[in-house]
Amino acid sequence: MCGIIGYIGKKPAFPALLSGLKRMEYRGYDSYGFCVLNNEKEPFFHKKVGKISEAEPELLNLEVKGNIGQAHTRWATTGAVTDQNAHPHWDCKKNIFLIHNGIIENHKDLREKLIKEGHEFSSETDTEVLSHLVEKYLDGNLEEALQKTLREVRGTYGIVLLAKDDPQKIVTARLSSPVILGIGQDEFLVASDPSAIITHTRQVINLDDNEIAVLKPDNFFILKEKPTVSIEWTPEEADKKDYPHFMLKEIMEEPETIENAIRGRLMPEEGTVKLGGLDKVAERLKDINKLILVACGTANYASRVGKYMLEEYAGIPTSVDIGSEFRYRKPIIDENTAAIFVSQSGETADTLAGLKEMKKKNVLTIGITNVVGSTQSRETETGVYTRSGPEIAVASTKAFLGQLSTLAMFAVYFGRQRNMSLVMGKRVVSELSKLPELAKSILNLAPDIKKLAEKYKEFENFWFIGRKYNFPIALEGALKLKEISYLHAEGVAGGELKHGPLALIQDNFPTIAICTSDSVYEKMVSNIEEVKARGGPVMAIATEGDERIKELVDDVIYIPKTLEMLTPILSVIPLHLFAYYMADLLGRNVDKPRNLAKSVTVE
Ligand code: G6P
Repeated sequence: MCGIIGYIGKKPAFPALLSGLKRMEYRGYDSYGFCVLNNEKEPFFHKKVGKISEAEPELLNLEVKGNIGQAHTRWATTGAVTDQNAHPHWDCKKNIFLIHNGIIENHKDLREKLIKEGHEFSSETDTEVLSHLVEKYLDGNLEEALQKTLREVRGTYGIVLLAKDDPQKIVTARLSSPVILGIGQDEFLVASDPSAIITHTRQVINLDDNEIAVLKPDNFFILKEKPTVSIEWTPEEADKKDYPHFMLKEIMEEPETIENAIRGRLMPEEGTVKLGGLDKVAERLKDINKLILVACGTANYASRVGKYMLEEYAGIPTSVDIGSEFRYRKPIIDENTAAIFVSQSGETADTLAGLKEMKKKNVLTIGITNVVGSTQSRETETGVYTRSGPEIAVASTKAFLGQLSTLAMFAVYFGRQRNMSLVMGKRVVSELSKLPELAKSILNLAPDIKKLAEKYKEFENFWFIGRKYNFPIALEGALKLKEISYLHAEGVAGGELKHGPLALIQDNFPTIAICTSDSVYEKMVSNIEEVKARGGPVMAIATEGDERIKELVDDVIYIPKTLEMLTPILSVIPLHLFAYYMADLLGRNVDKPRNLAKSVTVE
């Protein structure tokens, strides 16, 4: 949830920390803090409530000496948003400086014990117990003190630790929170997020759970030898370019995202797809007769579309779970069940908890993940990358398109292993290959959608309705609108309107209806009529050539025709644009909506 970074090398640490923090600010951003060690005088430390991007001009004026340091951007979990609760946290002697991403579950007991032993606390956070425990155990060797500390704690952590008395060293550790080591030229970095260090190096080592690493100015060691891997993103990709917001840039990349997901994977002649991760377990997949999809947020809505695809085209009973619910229920599984985990970041704690549980039960685990080398991609038995590139805006957009395209390929893969005919396989593959071009044509509607946002921004409540494949898209459209514009929006299956939502329909409560020309078109038209009969304004997403809808609704956005199973990949694009323009016109912080974070690495 929070972002952590450490630097040790020949260059001044502060600028590296500052730029790393800025690049990570999307992860959590109610406060920030730094500590930089130098040999001559007292360490520099500074922590404050606020946004790093706003404080940057002032921070750039500071003269901070030292080549070793740490920095943190906080998304409050334990303790209010105050200067004192920002990281780093120190011990009684202000010798230990520690930053942390995660949660220490037994912090209350530890705090009481430490207070009885004479330690004085200066914050309300769970993290501060770590600094005092390190102080307690420190006897000349910082990594040993951290090792002893971690034996006492229950919870999750990515930690970067410094000591004033030992200023040539950074110690870092992880358990269920991401930590990567960046191996640069005459410098080492540690961070929770590749984007923080990508301008320094693309050679990284992923720290594993329960590992501790020690970084020194000219060498580093971990408890065991690990290979380096390459980050596939370029720094330019993680830049806003000329766009006013990352979110708009990322929506504009949606056609490219579909293209990247399917590139080299479609086999038009054979009417199937080639997915290396699934090929590895192809024989086992033939026996699978039940699929469980687990994901959170937008990835969960992609999974719900996936369920319709997999059941209709592969004939496999498929259930979809929210990570935070799945971890506490008792799923019915057997040796022919496979669990698919869908996540942009690959670090969502609730999704990972479900993955751990399934591994314990020997279920075949498959990941659909964007971030290469993330915990999910390493912990699943096999998987497929969505190749969506870095997604920086908190609200997920292009990654959703990557997930949907990948799930459509899963449906073809599983389908062709079972009853799907060659003809049908060829048809789906051919339609999939056309999607990037069709998606591009929808982006040309951006100015029209902006005009609609001008009109609809006067309203405060919205229903989003859809059926079958487009029901999850109604949920996604509503989620996107509410999270970035702070307007009230609810997604509902068209058929459910009459079971409650209709009571709210009035001329001030518009409905956004996804009414594409497909097997449920007539049903959707009836639902729209129900809304119109009660005076509700309606904006529809419809298929090009549908003249009838124009007579019925107040506004229409037309999207091109494709196979019914693939319509969600197109129908969601105008909804992403609509949410973006609404939020922007209302003056919201589009990329960093209040109270939310990009990668939710705590329960
Ligand atoms: C957070 C983000 C959402 C995202 C969800 C799941 O809530 O704000 O945009 O959909 O986490 O994230 P994941 O990385 O697992 O896809």
